[in-house]
Amino acid sequence: MEAFVIEGGLALHGEIEVHGAKNAALPILAATILVRGEMELVDVPDLLDVRVMMDILRALGVQVVREGHRLYVNTETLDTNIVPEHLMSQMRSSIFLLGPLVSRTGEAVVSYPGGCSIGQRPIDMHISSLKKMGVTIHEYGGTLVAEAHRLRGAHIVLDFPSVGTTENILMAAAFAEGRTIITNAAREPEIQDLARFLTSLGARIHGAGTHRIVIEGVTRPAHVRLTHRVIPDRIEAGTFLAAGAMTGGDIFIRGVVVEHMEAVIEAFQQSGTIISQDQGGLRVIGRRPILPLHKVMTSPHPGFPTDMQAQLMAHLTLAEGTSIIVETVFDGRFRHVPELVKMGADIVVDYHTAVIRGVQHLEGARVKATDLRAGAALVLAGLSAEGTTTVIHPHHIDRGYETLEVSLAALGARISRERVATILQGERN
Ligand code: EPZ
Repeated sequence: MEAFVIEGGLALHGEIEVHGAKNAALPILAATILVRGEMELVDVPDLLDVRVMMDILRALGVQVVREGHRLYVNTETLDTNIVPEHLMSQMRSSIFLLGPLVSRTGEAVVSYPGGCSIGQRPIDMHISSLKKMGVTIHEYGGTLVAEAHRLRGAHIVLDFPSVGTTENILMAAAFAEGRTIITNAAREPEIQDLARFLTSLGARIHGAGTHRIVIEGVTRPAHVRLTHRVIPDRIEAGTFLAAGAMTGGDIFIRGVVVEHMEAVIEAFQQSGTIISQDQGGLRVIGRRPILPLHKVMTSPHPGFPTDMQAQLMAHLTLAEGTSIIVETVFDGRFRHVPELVKMGADIVVDYHTAVIRGVQHLEGARVKATDLRAGAALVLAGLSAEGTTTVIHPHHIDRGYETLEVSLAALGARISRERVATILQGERN
């Protein structure tokens, strides 16, 4: 069994470059199948979820080749619209294929998406939105068969600004008949990046990044040849920021788009971290005492991102006082709490609210990653704890971070990926 083994107590120093955004690359990869052509995607991170998406595209007959952080995709050879169940079940993002497959081929056969264990992750909004656009969807024991002779524009009002639903609609609407309006659309930077990619395919989209997006359906181009650079990963950048803050370090994070991270920067500055903008990046200086935050609520962009909730909580376990975090986006995103408590954190959870009473220090322990951001938070806690921390199930972390241990080691962290005896053999040290 693999684990990250971390020797805590070292302040991080140095410079790190942010990778391309996982949550932009995934929908953009799905969107490539909308048209025939040769597309070059730049700054695509090499992580588990992207590899699964590449395998899905290959299973559909699409040619995908990676050269470093560039992907070359040729969609001329798409030859099926049935997504293999074993690939669908490996991650939630596979639901992004519904819209593009129906748009390109008139049909899609997918199974309910998998994903990480952060609570209920229904796809009702995806289904209802596509039905409004003329898609008929039948479910046969966990398999969805979606068909549409011709997608037609519709006015869709989302109950919640769902990122994935907004993306599925954008992809289905690009070459649909007529106009589509999305009211209460998600406003994440990744939505804007997808819209930019779709526009390079010929789509006509107005308002991406706002709560109201209008897509004028256009005729699908016969062939495209293009290059698209994926935006930087604001959550990876936020995770590095938290690492510098928690360890009392002084780091430079290169390649971030500050406008994508304003709520995260604000929260850490309020907790005493010194953050300054330098050419093309952020300088982060961690300070003691860490100040408690009276209340932080996660919310859709531009609010504080749910994907940074666990990392902020790890930071606040060391605050001089009591903080409150309210998770409003997912109903099960506190699975890092019992693991942080094993390290000596003082946290009480009541439904969507966590009360974090700061402690002097955390103790190294054997903890388990339950999902990608919870796992990242445990790595951060290990960096600042006294002693050795072993984080098992690092594959959860690998889903969202390209070799996180390599990035942190470059900043002076003592972290390595080891094979450790299984729990059944008991603790030997
Ligand atoms: C995207 O997931 C991200 N994943 C998530 O990042 C991120 O946490 C989330 O958006 C919110 O920002 C990718 O982009 C690949 P949602 P998504 O649809 O699209 C409910 C990470 O850490 N909902 O905005 O699945 C849902 O249950 C991952 O990188 C429905 O009820 O998120 C949740 O409570 C984790 N019905 C809320 O909406 C639906 O049909 C937000 O979900 C769809 C969603």
